[in-house]
Amino acid sequence: MRTLAFVLGGVGAGGLAALLALGSPMPQAQQAQPVADSIAAPAISDTGSLKGPRQPLFFRHDIHAGQFKMQCQYCHYSVEASSEPGIPTTQTCMGCHLVVAGSDSSSRLEIGKLRQAWNEKKPIEWVRVHFLARHAHFPHQRHIKAMGPNACSTCHGDVARMPQVFKVNNVNNMGFCISCHVERKVSRDCTVCHY
Ligand code: HEC
Ligand code: HEC
Ligand code: HEC
Ligand code: HEC
Ligand code: HEC
Repeated sequence: MRTLAFVLGGVGAGGLAALLALGSPMPQAQQAQPVADSIAAPAISDTGSLKGPRQPLFFRHDIHAGQFKMQCQYCHYSVEASSEPGIPTTQTCMGCHLVVAGSDSSSRLEIGKLRQAWNEKKPIEWVRVHFLARHAHFPHQRHIKAMGPNACSTCHGDVARMPQVFKVNNVNNMGFCISCHVERKVSRDCTVCHY
């Protein structure tokens, strides 16, 4: 834990790199990937006016994936290998939040909720944003293989700038899928998506 003092001294870009090294058993963290634009996530006082469903705690993609440039795959670990992209466990969060307590009262309050869930061994019940009906199937891995690891924004929009995730495209409209499949000459057989 040689880097701990450095980490506690303030979390700038270097501090985050140290944290990623500290708290990452995952090989994805070592992958070379283009980084997002430099984004300073704004302070937000009125969370009620944000788009998208309210989550049990205020986890901000614009801070983690935007400002601190964490790779999507660090948390959505199975997106290249399986249909389901994967949602990180509380343990993944605690790799950093055992030491990162928050720099102001609102972040300390939200990180406090995370630490409480961890201490009580309760999973966090995230509210799902994109959800297809049971009769339709969407394989993430096939799309990431064909479109590359940074294709997320094609369907999900610029998540790295979202304080709270919302739906940019109506994925529940079959036309959304079909129009791209037509464009890219991918199969439109009913049984490819419905089985
Ligand atoms: C530090 C971990 C972490 C990182 C990094 C991260 N995410 Fe997430 N992501 C989460 C968590 C936790 C949720 C569930 C809570 C929520 O919706 O905010 C989530 C939810 C989502 C959702 C909504 C899922 C649904 O319910 O439909 C999308 C889309 C998403 N992430 C895309 C991305 C993309 C794209 C990136 C990279 C630019 C990224 N995430 C980086 C942790 C992360
Ligand atoms: C690689 C390190 C790292 C990981 C992993 C991580 N975080 Fe963070 N998180 C940070 C840093 C750094 C901040 C900014 C703290 C500050 O300065 O207030 C932060 C801020 C937060 C905040 C406060 C946001 C606000 O309102 O200002 C919450 C809540 C949070 N993280 C939850 C989570 C959750 C939930 C996960 C897991 C899905 C997670 N974090 C994973 C580093 C991390
Ligand atoms: C071609 C469109 C498309 C692309 C590209 C795409 N997604 Fe998705 N994503 C979807 C759809 C559709 C769903 C809903 C799937 C379902 O309900 O079965 C979804 C759901 C999700 C979820 C919610 C999963 C859950 O268990 O709650 C996350 C997280 C997510 N995507 C992350 C990502 C990340 C990260 C990337 C890029 C590496 C990405 N997606 C690329 C269309 C896409
Ligand atoms: C932006 C473009 C794009 C969108 C939007 C899109 N897809 Fe695809 N999809 C692709 C590409 C490209 C492939 C081909 C992958 C390959 O060659 O393996 C593919 C392949 C697939 C496959 C595998 C096809 C096979 O032959 O086995 C399924 C299933 C699928 N998509 C379902 C969906 C569903 C469901 C949606 C909507 C929720 C969707 N796709 C939206 C581009 C897209
Ligand atoms: C590329 C993937 C894909 C292909 C190919 C596809 N569908 Fe769909 N279909 C979907 C998605 C995604 C939905 C929306 C599911 C939801 O409501 O979440 C859907 C919805 C539907 C619905 C429900 C309509 C509604 O309004 O709720 C029917 C019926 C349907 N599809 C029939 C078909 C038939 C018939 C074919 C072949 C001619 C076909 N689909 C081909 C992805 C596909």
